[in-house]
This record gives sequence, C-alpha cells and structure tokens, in this order.
Amino acid sequence: MEKFDVIVIGSGPGGYVAAIRCAQLGLKTALIEKYESLGGTCLNVGCIPSKALLDSSEHFYNAANHFKEHGIKINSPEVDIEQMIARKANVVKTTVAGVDYLMKKNKITVITGHGSFLSKNTIEVTKPDGTKQQLETGKTIIATGSKPSSLPGIEIDKQRVITSTEALQLKEVPKHLIIIGGGVIGLELGSVYARLGSKITVIEYMNHIIAAMDETVVKELERILQKELDFEFLLKHKVTAAKISGDGVNVTVLNSKNEQVEIKGDYCLVAVGRKPYTDHLGLDKAGVNINENGRVEVNEKLQTNVSDIYAIGDVIKGAMLAHKAMEEGVFVAEVIAGQKPHINYNLIPGVIYTWPEVAALGATEEQLKEKNQKYKVGVFPFKASGRAKASGDTNGFVKVLADESTDEILGVHIIGPRAADMIAEAVVAMEYKASAEDIGRMSHAHPTFTESFKEACLDATAKRPIHI
Ligand code: FAD
Ligand code: NAI
Repeated sequence: MEKFDVIVIGSGPGGYVAAIRCAQLGLKTALIEKYESLGGTCLNVGCIPSKALLDSSEHFYNAANHFKEHGIKINSPEVDIEQMIARKANVVKTTVAGVDYLMKKNKITVITGHGSFLSKNTIEVTKPDGTKQQLETGKTIIATGSKPSSLPGIEIDKQRVITSTEALQLKEVPKHLIIIGGGVIGLELGSVYARLGSKITVIEYMNHIIAAMDETVVKELERILQKELDFEFLLKHKVTAAKISGDGVNVTVLNSKNEQVEIKGDYCLVAVGRKPYTDHLGLDKAGVNINENGRVEVNEKLQTNVSDIYAIGDVIKGAMLAHKAMEEGVFVAEVIAGQKPHINYNLIPGVIYTWPEVAALGATEEQLKEKNQKYKVGVFPFKASGRAKASGDTNGFVKVLADESTDEILGVHIIGPRAADMIAEAVVAMEYKASAEDIGRMSHAHPTFTESFKEACLDATAKRPIHI
C-alpha cells in the first residue's frame, strides 16, 4: 500500500491549493478527485464558467445598447448561444489545464476516483473503471465541497427545472427564466440571460435579495437590475411547487398575503443555496463528526474531532467562496507542517459579478447598529467620478463605515464598475487597521474608479470629499 504524508480528497480551490502548499512544505502529497477534470465546482461549474458567460453576455449587451452612444455603428447584434457556451467550455478547459500543470510542477500524485475512508489513516479510491486502490496516509484534508440544494415540492429534472450547472450550458436562450432564490447565483445567472434577452422573474422569500449585504447597496442593486435589465422581483414570496408542463414549467408560489399564484416560464433555475457534500465518504468509518447542517465539524485549526483529519472549504462552516477555501487550503497545510498561520475571516470579501458589480467587506451598517457601535458613514457616488463618466458606468457608489471616535474603517460596501477589483484596496486597508483619514491622504491614480474609495473615506473621516 503506497503511503503519503498527506492525502487531499477533492480538487476544488480548497483541495488543489492545499495540495500545492503541502508539496511546497516538503510533504509527500496525493490529491484524489472523482472527476477527470480537476478544479472542483469553481473551475468546472462555478466561478470560472459563470464569469465567462457574464463577460460574453456583457459584450453582447453593450454592443446592443451602448455602442451607439460611443459612436460605434453596427448592425443589430445576434446571440450565438452555441459559440458562447463553446467559448466558456474552452475557458474552463484551459483553466483546468493550468491546475494539471501545477500538480505536475509540484510533484503531487493525482488519483482519479471516489475517495472514501476505510479507517482514519486508510483511504480507498474507487476508480472510474470500478477497480479499487488503498492508500495509507499520515494526515487527510477533506475538501469535498458542496452541491446545489433543492426545496420540497420541486423535482430538478435538469432539463426544465435546473440548477446552476445546467444553466451554464443551455442550448437556447430562455424566453422566460424563473429563478427561485434571489442570492448570488440567481442574480449572476439571471443577469447573463437577461442581457441575452430572457425575461427574468426572481422569487425570493426574504423581503430583499441577498439579504446578508448592506441594505443601501441591496436596494441600489434591486433598482438597477429592475431598470436596466427588467428583472421582476417577487419578494416575500414562497415557492411551494415547480412542475414541468410540456415545454415549460409552472411554479406555484404563496405571496405575502398567503395567496397562491401560478407563474409560467420555459425554464426554472433553483438557486436556494448549496449543501456540503460528504456522500459515501466513509466519515463514520474514520469517526469524523458532522453538524446538524451536514457540515464537517472543525476547531480553530480546521482539525476535525479526529486529530489526523482536517477539513476546508464549502464542506465546513463559513461562506461558500473559492477564495475562502483557498486561504483555508494554505492554512491547513501550514498547520500540518507545524507552522502557526492565521486567517482573518472578517476580511474575506464578498462579491457579486452583476453589472454594476457589488463588493463588500467587514461590517454592514445594520450589524454596527445591532452591536450599538458608534460609526460614521462616507458615501461617494460614481456619477461624480471622472473615470466612471468616461466609461459611461455612473451607477452606484462607494460606502465607507468608520468608527466614530478612532476613525478606523469597519466596513466597505461598493456597488459600481469594477467593484470586485476595487475591494482589494479595502482588504489591505482594513488588514492594517487603516483609518478613513489614512486612505483619504493617500494618492490614487487619476482618473481611476479607486479615487471613489478615497473620496468616500474623505467623506467618512471629516465630511470633506473634494468632488461632491
Ligand atoms: P469544490 O470546488 O466543490 O470541490 C470539491 C471537489 O471534491 C469536487 O471536484 C468533487 O468532485 C470532489 N469530491 C467530492 N467528494 C469526493 C470524493 N469522495 N472523492 C473524490 N473527490 C470528491 N465562489 C467565489 O468565490 N467566486 C465566484 O465567483 C463564485 N462563483 C460561483 C458560481 C457558481 C455557479 C457556483 C455554483 C459557485 C460559485 N462560487 C464562487 C462558489 C465556489 O465555487 C465554491 O465556494 C468553491 O468551489 C468551494 O471550493 P471547495 O474546494 O471547498 O469545493
Ligand atoms: P444564496 O445563499 O446566495 O441565495 C439563496 C437565496 O434563496 C437566499 O436569498 C434565500 O433567502 C433564497 N431562498 C431560500 N429558500 C427559498 C424559497 N423556498 N423560496 C424563495 N427563495 C428562497 O445561494 P445561491 O445563490 O444558491 O449560491 C450558493 C453559494 O454559491 C453561495 O453561498 C455563494 O457564496 C456561492 N456563490 C458565490 C458567487 C460569488 O462569489 N460571486 C457566485 C455564485 C455562487
């Protein structure tokens, strides 16, 4: 039986990054992945393909709606969905090839097959051809990720009632796409198809979409998606059933007055969250505990109740985000190697890749109020930014929350162009406990979107922005 210092089960952003860091630290490492294609949800059916389609659909939307104002005349553009999906598949292929290369470069043994514990230090891999291989391991990192959740009364047939995975490879642009869940997936994939011409109805049972984010940002996003892309939001509506009927879907909902309403569309995307994936992993044989939500329980070292077994990423507590999984991959490898790493979970940014993008870090205004913490607010609208005017992206704003007495930045919430990239500056600022005045006194290249962060900080620190 071949023996490894560390075996990682699952090759998503958590698992493959953990494997690389283990190898860098001199540990003999194997990575087990049940699919031929490495990279997990993120590379194959998540972050990368969704962003490829978001970018393609944005090009189409701009060509159809904004080229004219820039002085570019074209005939009315047409969607070639087959080519768009083929391009996306190619983006995935080249990104996955990059992970294959990294595994070879770092001399990581990649084994294709389903991994399962036989005991705490023995793993069995069932290969695609049904043969089995047993491996001995010192430490194991569980990085098996998550799968889409569903709802009672809804049967996902993957043809008409679909998850994000199928929504990333449709053969036609839906006429009317009904989306259950006004979370990140619903808004991102809803944006893709709205830009390509679908009517979008989002059914959300909370009173706002993406309820965990700062309320002012959420309201602005709702307003923009309704105005620019004709999104229909049915808030405070509860879905009770989704049934296929011919070439369409009937979705039954209870509205806020508890009246039953039927909505007809040609596709229904179920995007109500994801659940941890530990099927047939043999956790019972290894003696590993899971919590009531099915997530693997870990301590502050991301170690399970079995000391040789660790877990990271979507399968444990916390935000289901690729960059959180990657940080945990590095963390756990360093813990295994005897180091004392640290993750600041308060400073893991959350991003929604709609247009405008949304990015958030640290506390929301609602959270500060709940904690009775005294704070100052600084806001700078993109309509006052020269860079935003030049590109024609004037929707949205930067909002900075700072401690009332110390001026330390406590939260940054951006809705606007390139918010996803802009939030990185806020991460650095908050990691170094910058005050709003610190950022307000630093030079930002002109003209850039990032000047708006500086201006919002000037507004927060002393109500002295320059350009509003
Ligand atoms: P995963 O990526 O889920 O990988 C787990 C891997 O383990 C899989 O490959 C699986 O096949 C394998 N596996 C499971 N069990 C076994 C077993 N027993 N044996 C062998 N292999 C096994 N996050 C972001 O940060 N930014 C985004 O823009 C973003 N966009 C997303 C878009 C969509 C449509 C979706 C669905 C998700 C998106 N996410 C995004 C979330 C992100 O994909 C996840 O948070 C991330 O992939 C979690 O990484 P992970 O390593 O924990 O697990
Ligand atoms: P989500 O948790 O973001 O949103 C689910 C939404 O569905 C919530 O608003 C919830 O209130 C609603 N909902 C639940 N039950 C409902 C019901 N019965 N009727 C109506 N609404 C209901 O989950 P989502 O969008 O499925 O995404 C899953 C995960 O993938 C997220 O945790 C996210 O972190 C990750 N992801 C991240 C992305 C990014 O970072 N840009 C992009 C896409 C996904």
